[in-house]
Amino acid sequence: MSANTRVVRGRVLSFRDDPRLDEEARIYIEDGAVLIVGGRIEAVGGVREVLRRAPPEAPVDDHAGRLVMPGFIDAHIHYPQTQVVASYGAQLLDWLNNYTFPEEQKFADRDHCERIADFFLDELFRCGTTTAMVYCTVHPQSVDAFFAAAERLSARMIAGKTMMDRDAPEALMDTPERGYEESQSLIQRWRGRGRLDYAVTPRFAVTSSKAQLEAAGALVKENPGVYVQTHLDENKAEIELVRRLFPEARNYLDVYNRAGLLGPRSVFGHCVWLEDAEVAALAASRSVAAFCPTSNLFLGSGLFDAARLERAGVRIALATDVGGGTSYSMLATAAEGYKVLELKGQSWPAAAAFYRMTLGNARALSLEGRVGSIEPGKEADLAVIDSRATPAMAHRMETAEGDLDAELFVLMMLGDDRAVRQTYVAGVPRKL
Ligand code: GUN
Ligand code: ZN
Repeated sequence: MSANTRVVRGRVLSFRDDPRLDEEARIYIEDGAVLIVGGRIEAVGGVREVLRRAPPEAPVDDHAGRLVMPGFIDAHIHYPQTQVVASYGAQLLDWLNNYTFPEEQKFADRDHCERIADFFLDELFRCGTTTAMVYCTVHPQSVDAFFAAAERLSARMIAGKTMMDRDAPEALMDTPERGYEESQSLIQRWRGRGRLDYAVTPRFAVTSSKAQLEAAGALVKENPGVYVQTHLDENKAEIELVRRLFPEARNYLDVYNRAGLLGPRSVFGHCVWLEDAEVAALAASRSVAAFCPTSNLFLGSGLFDAARLERAGVRIALATDVGGGTSYSMLATAAEGYKVLELKGQSWPAAAAFYRMTLGNARALSLEGRVGSIEPGKEADLAVIDSRATPAMAHRMETAEGDLDAELFVLMMLGDDRAVRQTYVAGVPRKL
């Protein structure tokens, strides 16, 4: 039998939809199990029924008492920034110049890329994250190393070469032509290979000339359905700089719009300081705004206004943005998101946050047919979660016994990598 056939037993929790919109959205099976065959979910249900369907020789991983959830999805993260996390005392532009750009230059070395890619994927899995949309560096070898590591682990990952042709150290710059050529050849090599997909990745309007953004737009046109990722309206000084660099544009998002970079597979990181016209354009184009709470707090960028975007019909995702973000854990990220929304006078029930970390983010990345919920036919990416992982959590859980909403809120506010007991990637246990 193949290594990725097994039964995973526990308290199965998954979502069909946003629980704020549909009371029936939550699927919860107290003594449940998931049958995985060949890396896919073959069956889910009560443990007896699932065991009856399982091949007799299939191993059973018994996680009794623990929650078995879809693996978490992170919609915006930088793998070359694992050693930038927790760099002191700077807002965005200084943080990039003082810490991030020096660090990213190390990715000219393929061995370094490989070491960091391995660390990064292990760390995601330790946190229960099984899919991410990932920035590499300007170096094509950083993309090759990342995809090769993800392929070896059968992980569903979207990533791309950062395009940047100005306002950065010489060693980190390409040109419009080179950025185009290198991206095109990476797309040919990796897009749609196994569980991998490609995102055209102009870093942001500060470090890409108009010609380079147009080259990125050409890549999108020539590769229909390819993803796009970039940064938008994160920091006030950044926005002022973009205004000076692109005086002809109506606003920051219009810079990207003119280059043909908006659309349902485009994910814009941060979106803290959007003008009304930008909100309308995001909604009309079905583009996605990525909420990066730990990063927005750490870099002093500002408070994301989820309710405003939801009212306007903008698609939203949740993301760590490591290394501007300070935690790889989507649980810890949701906790900071909750606090940000409280400061905005908005609420975020735990069930809605868990929907967001799973099926919600899968939908934001157009992956809902493959991952994000525990349903037959989906890929078997799972996280096994222990609500009593630390003494403080176990102590708090004494008063939440039998109340799933209370338990999920404890997990959301107190949980992190320690609450993740196992992570299955395409059916294979991956937590070290
Ligand atoms: N804007 C442009 N590049 C970056 C980056 O690496 N991190 C964050 N947080 N914002 C950016
Ligand atoms: Zn980012």
